Amino acid sequence: MGALHQGHRQLIASAQACGNGKEPAAVLVSAFVNPLQFGPDEDFESYPRDIDADCLIAETSGAAAIWAPSVEQVFPAGAASHFRLQVPRKHQEHLCGAVRPGHFDGVATVVARLLALVLPDALVLGEKDWQQLVILRQLVDDLGLKVRLHGVPTVRESDGLACSSRNRYLTNKQRQQAVALPRLLNRAARDVMDGGSVDLPRMQLEWEQLGLAVEYLEVVDPSRLQPVKVEQKLCLLAAALRVGETRLIDHVFLMTRQPIVAIDGPAGAGKSTVTRAFAQRLGLLYLDTGAMYRAVTWLAQQQAVDSDDALALEAMLENFQLELDPSQSGSQRVRVNGHDVTDAIRSPDVTAGVSAIAAHACVRQALTAQQQQMGRRGGLVAEGRDIGTAVFPDAELKVFLTASSAERARRRAVDLEQRGFPVPDLLELESQIQERDRLDSTREVAPLLQADDATELITDGMVIEEVIEALIALFRMQVPEEVWPTPAC
Ligand code: CDP
Repeated sequence: MGALHQGHRQLIASAQACGNGKEPAAVLVSAFVNPLQFGPDEDFESYPRDIDADCLIAETSGAAAIWAPSVEQVFPAGAASHFRLQVPRKHQEHLCGAVRPGHFDGVATVVARLLALVLPDALVLGEKDWQQLVILRQLVDDLGLKVRLHGVPTVRESDGLACSSRNRYLTNKQRQQAVALPRLLNRAARDVMDGGSVDLPRMQLEWEQLGLAVEYLEVVDPSRLQPVKVEQKLCLLAAALRVGETRLIDHVFLMTRQPIVAIDGPAGAGKSTVTRAFAQRLGLLYLDTGAMYRAVTWLAQQQAVDSDDALALEAMLENFQLELDPSQSGSQRVRVNGHDVTDAIRSPDVTAGVSAIAAHACVRQALTAQQQQMGRRGGLVAEGRDIGTAVFPDAELKVFLTASSAERARRRAVDLEQRGFPVPDLLELESQIQERDRLDSTREVAPLLQADDATELITDGMVIEEVIEALIALFRMQVPEEVWPTPAC
């Protein structure tokens, strides 16, 4: 809406980085004070407008152009004569949506209109207005708009106050009061990280004692925007306060560890390839749990332990040392009792035997404990069969990655060929895959199952890059840049 500040400079810089890797993207700054998003008692008339200052900031930040249309240019027939969008109720029931009726309908309507007029490749928005970001993500998704959406972490002034056009309304004294907004939010985030809890009534009281009026203070799920208890999972603590006439919003994300992503799915769905690339793009540790079950199978085959003999397997596990370095480089080396078995565990013999071994409770117990230990601090993506259901049931993002068995057989054939193994015919491969799925999904302990809160991603007809992008988009719906920044390439 214009009145550009340091936060917008950062948006412009991030937008430039959305280029093709060779040259920066051409950035268009839109500066439009949108009448549709102001309530009757809000500050539409007095909202700061300074187009000359905006042009200067846009230009010196690297923008190619600034577009500051009049209300008549955006809504030539008058706002009342144009289509309006309605944001789903559940997205507006809390936070700003609850105290500013119609606000997000106005935002969605004008953003859809701006996108339709400009047709940009990417839309860059600040995470400061997190609710707006969530709503616009769904808008882009629901309307099938061909635009990538990027969130940018909140930029703060040196005293911690989030940059906002409305900060310029504050007097010196109000400014000193206002810094208690980020201060108390940060304290709450630290308390939760240290294993403590958040005392909302106390926070509210403290603000009120400092002369700040609390409009809302809520803990919600970051993507559903519905209230949650502060628990294991990442959640959003958001507040709106009034300092005199000025309304300020801010938030923090509460968490007890870094985020975890669980990717489950049937055999040969391409999980390893896409998960490895996804981990690399986001700087997450990559944990291929299938490799762990394969490693146990390899040892059992080496020692001629019968895969039906639970007691013998249990005894074998007493002398089973599995080392694996969940790495960010994408290649996960696997060592069993000091031997590097990275390639050996991919043999057709191991593949044929692994599901029987993986069905044993003693095997699952040992490997699940090791996996949970590796994920203690988070910052990891694990793939397998039971990650979202048994290993990390509190993962921030759960994806069930699948494809038809014919498609999976085709992919498995390519993989075998690349690894130099003999390739059976496709029908034979398909029936092997189906048999493994059957064993994995019918075993008693931790069967292959889509978690209730997992998103299903069916990848038939999708190229690898599309799957990776879809995973990144799902991740960003749950985990903001503020919590887990995308590493610079
Ligand atoms: O062949 P593909 O790459 O699809 O499978 P994998 O991820 O290497 O897993 C091999 C086998 O390990 C699966 O068929 C399961 O029997 C077992 N597994 C499991 O039971 N639980 C996991 N979390 C991962 C794998």
